[in-house]
Amino acid sequence: MPASLAGKLRSIAIGVTDLAAAEEFYVSTWRLSVAARSADAVYLRGSGADHHILALHRSAQPDVRRVDFVVAAHANLALIAAGVRAHGGHVLNDVHDNAEPDGGSALDVQDPQGRHLRFVHAPAAHVESGGADAPVRITHVVFNSADVPLAQAFYEQALGFSLSDRTRIMAFMRCGSDHHSIALADADSNTLNHIAFVMPDLDAVMRGAGRMSDAGYPIEWGVGRHGPGNNVFSYFVGPDDFVIEYTAEVLQVDDSYRVGKPEDWTWPPGRFDQWGVSKPPSDRIKQAQKKIRFTNQ
Ligand SMILES: [Fe+2]
Repeated sequence: MPASLAGKLRSIAIGVTDLAAAEEFYVSTWRLSVAARSADAVYLRGSGADHHILALHRSAQPDVRRVDFVVAAHANLALIAAGVRAHGGHVLNDVHDNAEPDGGSALDVQDPQGRHLRFVHAPAAHVESGGADAPVRITHVVFNSADVPLAQAFYEQALGFSLSDRTRIMAFMRCGSDHHSIALADADSNTLNHIAFVMPDLDAVMRGAGRMSDAGYPIEWGVGRHGPGNNVFSYFVGPDDFVIEYTAEVLQVDDSYRVGKPEDWTWPPGRFDQWGVSKPPSDRIKQAQKKIRFTNQ
């Protein structure tokens, strides 16, 4: 499929209240690796080529600083800036040299609901390391939205996303071949729902779940296989109550994918995944997936 203007979802930058403890968790248990650091931030990579997929920033409260995409062509940055201005977003910092360790050229914008997005061209990258049980990359970020149609229109019209599926509670949007890179969940605030890290395979998801359990982080939802996206899932509540997901086998789609509607995605009572083995999400995760705000909100 043609790449969208937005390019590829690469990373999320979050604020954490104990930087050293968060680094310890995301390296030792979650299995990311340190790619770079500064006085107040640690940049963590997966086993894929991305320079980093998670940036931890020292913060007074947990929050989301930014979500970053890598665009295919430098010219796309100006096209994105124009699209953002035309469709209800704001350009925070027009095309500039990126001062963070990944480098390249960057454009910083805000969507109509205040989420800070960065589009980077030609950032630094790594050779894939191929760690067996390490997350490879970020595959999706889910935003809660107080107005999903508004946000959906912006991601489609300003950034070139396509709708893959609309369920009763969520709009699944793609900017590449992954079934979704962003999903917008119907909610009463514009908070973070969760961050999904793709693992090499189902076994790696299960071994990761065991590692998390050993470290005192029980499965809060799963293990199961989702309907939309067909991906295996296991959800946890990490440090500062960020909801994080190990996933695998994400459905790869192209423009021939038939967009599903809410009536296409219903479960029988008491069922929460395709296999019929997952319990419902815990009360703890349901609270956590509403509470992390974006910095500027
Ligand atoms: Fe997910």
